[in-house]
Amino acid sequence: MPAAPARPVLLTGASGNLGRALARGLAERGWTLRLTDIAPFPDPLPERARFERMDLAEGVDLLHLAEGCGAILHFGGVSTDQPFNTVLGPNLQGLHHVYEAARREGARVVFASSNHSIGFHERPGQANDRLEADCTFRPDSFYGLSKAYGELMGRLYWDKHGVENVNLRIGSCFPEPTDARMLSTWLSYADLLRLCEAAVTAPRTGHCVIWACSDNPASFWGADHRARIGWQPQDSAEAWRDKVGGITSGNPVTERYQGGGYTAKDYSRDTPSPRDAFALD
Ligand SMILES: NC(=O)c1ccc[n+]([C@@H]2O[C@H](COP(=O)([O-])OP(=O)(O)OC[C@H]3O[C@@H](n4cnc5c(N)ncnc54)[C@H](O)[C@@H]3O)[C@@H](O)[C@H]2O)c1
Repeated sequence: MPAAPARPVLLTGASGNLGRALARGLAERGWTLRLTDIAPFPDPLPERARFERMDLAEGVDLLHLAEGCGAILHFGGVSTDQPFNTVLGPNLQGLHHVYEAARREGARVVFASSNHSIGFHERPGQANDRLEADCTFRPDSFYGLSKAYGELMGRLYWDKHGVENVNLRIGSCFPEPTDARMLSTWLSYADLLRLCEAAVTAPRTGHCVIWACSDNPASFWGADHRARIGWQPQDSAEAWRDKVGGITSGNPVTERYQGGGYTAKDYSRDTPSPRDAFALD
């Protein structure tokens, strides 16, 4: 296990599902954490941690909270498909505050991006050609668009200011897979914890993008920058195949694209047609 970082690590979204798991797991590894969220922290505060409640959109306070931190694990914000104006404050303005704080502190950003930034790529066909991390953004929602913006913000801050950032394109991070799509996209909590640990402690990262899913044989995703941080997932969704392999939506849009249900929500093109009808895509 790598040594705990020398400087404190700031975790946004600490009161959320993934934030709570990370706060617990990283504290157990001896890390000194600063936790923040717009919602109260629902658990007993871990050792060496302090919590401050704040709205990312009003983030001047974030500059103070980040003082002295060596890394920011940015997991806060709108985490589901919502109208543009709901996404705007936390995910676009809030992200800018996070990057400004990182620039001032010389800190690295680890950003909880999402598969929904590329959700309108089709699922791999017979050839099983897995999507590479430098593929075109094809967001499937305003939420997914905010994640593409977040990754590009990282690109800008690395190129212009040398702020290192690791962008985790998270698939489906839940206690266990619950449908057939998650046999491809599932990320275990334990693999997420090891991924965040590697992303913060790697000596150098530059700007990089990593498919954050477990070692699933049915994964949609291929090459990325994981070698740069020395991370390999250890879990696999395959053990749940018998239980969830038959659970599909019955919706042709959902089942066609990687982003699943997010692609079908508010979909207003003509009824999906054979693949070659979208030849202009
Ligand atoms: N869980 C997954 O499968 C998954 C998949 C892809 C990406 N992600 C990303 O990972 C991160 C964490 O996901 P999660 O499942 O824990 O979501 P979550 O909704 O449980 O946690 C998000 C947290 O952000 C906080 N938040 C929302 N608006 C805020 C604001 N304006 N200021 C400060 N805090 C605010 C919420 O209170 C919440 O505690 C999110 O960025 C999400 O987009 C998660």
